[in-house]
Amino acid sequence: MIAQRVQAIAPSETLKISGRAKELQREGKSIISLSAGEPDFKTPDNICEAAIQAIRDGHHGYTVNTGNPELREAVCEKLKKENNLDYTADQVILSNGAKQSIGFSLFATLNPGDEVLIPAPYWVSYPEMVKLAEGKPVVVQTAFENDYKLTADQLRDAITGKTKMLILCSPSNPTGSCYSADELKALAEVLRDYPDIMVLSDEIYEYIVFEGDHVGIAQVAPDLKDRILLINGFSKGFAMTGWRLGYLAGPTDVVKAVAKIQSQETSGPSSISQKAGEAAYLGSRDSVREMVKAFRERRDYLVDALNNIEGVRCFNPGGAFYAFPDISSYLNSVTPSGNKITNSTDLCLFLLEERGLATVPGDAFGEPRGIRLSYAASMDHLKEAIKRLREGLEALKKS
Ligand SMILES: Cc1ncc(COP(=O)(O)O)c(C=O)c1O
Repeated sequence: MIAQRVQAIAPSETLKISGRAKELQREGKSIISLSAGEPDFKTPDNICEAAIQAIRDGHHGYTVNTGNPELREAVCEKLKKENNLDYTADQVILSNGAKQSIGFSLFATLNPGDEVLIPAPYWVSYPEMVKLAEGKPVVVQTAFENDYKLTADQLRDAITGKTKMLILCSPSNPTGSCYSADELKALAEVLRDYPDIMVLSDEIYEYIVFEGDHVGIAQVAPDLKDRILLINGFSKGFAMTGWRLGYLAGPTDVVKAVAKIQSQETSGPSSISQKAGEAAYLGSRDSVREMVKAFRERRDYLVDALNNIEGVRCFNPGGAFYAFPDISSYLNSVTPSGNKITNSTDLCLFLLEERGLATVPGDAFGEPRGIRLSYAASMDHLKEAIKRLREGLEALKKS
């Protein structure tokens, strides 16, 4: 009864662990969760007030399918001021979260069998979304030693006659890595030899960077702008995950094609969220800076603590709110109750069941040697998490 396109995709691996964590919590167990994919902060007051005002002012109806012109203008202003990029309002389409912007962009551009290069570790949804759009995900393994960033050589080697798109995510979920301007320039140099390859640049974590300013590929390679699909949104930087507001800025023909799909599938995003988004972009970035300061302190603590656990190594992530330590020295071990740990999912389930620590296995992100720890959690929780992780790993025996 179920369509092949749905049968071909995997359910979210991350939900397996979080579902089990919730079950254990309901049973009364103490669970520390470092599995969150969203900031543990409240949406700033000025944004909430704007939404309340929007309700009072009667912004209750459908908006333009591509989103309110005022907010699209605000997006263009932001892109000019903060990213030095020139877009017009008809090159921007607002959607229900960056997730929808990515999904519809893929539907709008991929033909059956088109290959999409996805550097691993990757955000869980990319390969499945590509499959839903009948494209072929081609996973390109990157190295821990290079902070899991794609190199120009790896890119060149992965390109075939069928390559249609490269997906870049910086700052990255799950690794927190950020590409430097030079690294992006090197990738752009390769792409100049292949004029038909598009780039989907997911910059949803743009505001959560710790060293210098965020840089995206369109900034360093303006000549490629006509084939760059820039994805961004409000979820992470303004702690607005539940408001469901993201956007695509890109070439007019792709934006038009996405608008066609959106007009038939969902229409524009919530009118209230759009008013909130306007307040976010037109208002100050003070709350964003406060949040980033807290994330930086937690990152500094967490990464240092991880590197002090025997057999664990972790590079210093430049952004987002994730650390992605290499725990491979604990694979092929045995738990005190005799269960074998052969992959990161086994390890994460052991940490959850036996130590009450919820993390996300690297298997879900295409890198079995790592686990993802989210530091969208209080410092007290982070300290307790480190204690549980250290004790859990110490209890494992090599098989
Ligand atoms: C890399 C990445 N892109 C996109 C999204 C989706 O963001 P949104 O909540 O705006 O749909 C997420 C959310 O977890 C993400 O981690």
